[in-house]
Amino acid sequence: SLIRRSGQTIGVLVPNLNNPFFAEFNRGIEAYGMSQGYTPLIFGSDDSPEIAGHYMLEAIRRAADGMIIASAVEDVNQIDHMLQQNGLPYLLIDRSRPEKGDEVDMQNEQGGKMVADYLHQMGHQKVAVVITSELTLNLEHRLAGFMERMTELQIPVPEELIFTTQLSKQGGVDISAAIWEAKPTVVFAINDEIAIGLNRGFNDMGLQVPEDISIMGYDNIDMAEYTIPALTTINQPAFEMGETAAQLIIERIKNRDKAPQHVTLPINLVERQSVRKIK
Ligand code: RIB
Repeated sequence: SLIRRSGQTIGVLVPNLNNPFFAEFNRGIEAYGMSQGYTPLIFGSDDSPEIAGHYMLEAIRRAADGMIIASAVEDVNQIDHMLQQNGLPYLLIDRSRPEKGDEVDMQNEQGGKMVADYLHQMGHQKVAVVITSELTLNLEHRLAGFMERMTELQIPVPEELIFTTQLSKQGGVDISAAIWEAKPTVVFAINDEIAIGLNRGFNDMGLQVPEDISIMGYDNIDMAEYTIPALTTINQPAFEMGETAAQLIIERIKNRDKAPQHVTLPINLVERQSVRKIK
């Protein structure tokens, strides 16, 4: 085996260190880890499954005791193989395991439904959504919940109002002109980073948010309250998510035979100024 056991180290792999969501998540891991004498080794994969695989191997080499993986790795079975073979417990965040293991459930389907209900309440009838081409399981569930509830509310989102871009602020900027051309009254961005990019794009085009077009985000990253207008979004408790992930993996490191735990964390809608009421 590649492992030389030292101790009390947790490997953490996140998809994008640029997204403040993961800064908050990492802080939660650090806080809980520190309280238990564990130190995180944090890696960002820049959304590349290849880089993710590379860092996973490095974490094993550096004798991590367990791994928290929130990154897109090519094939879950492959991780399973690599980590199991080296006897490393791991926790997948926002992705499901091949066989049932510990889980932190962020209620993404529920969150998508909350967005749909809110946009309906605010009187929107022409609604666009922005996603990314390779949806991880969390985003897939978020989108599915949203679409399902929109259909139930009889405001189905037609294909020409579903836009695809990179999962980043620049992704939001890049798709803003195409969205404006389609003239929805509101656009739901699958995460806040895209929402913030859209806001910038619309601004650069001389548009007023939310008077000309409303924007709905998802995550409640720290910047969401500092944009103009401040962003209406779904709050995911990223810090607590990190704490919980650390707790589950540390308990698993200490006791491999423990029954799998499933923890569900609460989400809520934060109403600010980016979605207007349509009369
Ligand atoms: O993969 C990126 C997204 O997943 C984040 O923005 C957050 O929504 C997380 O669930």
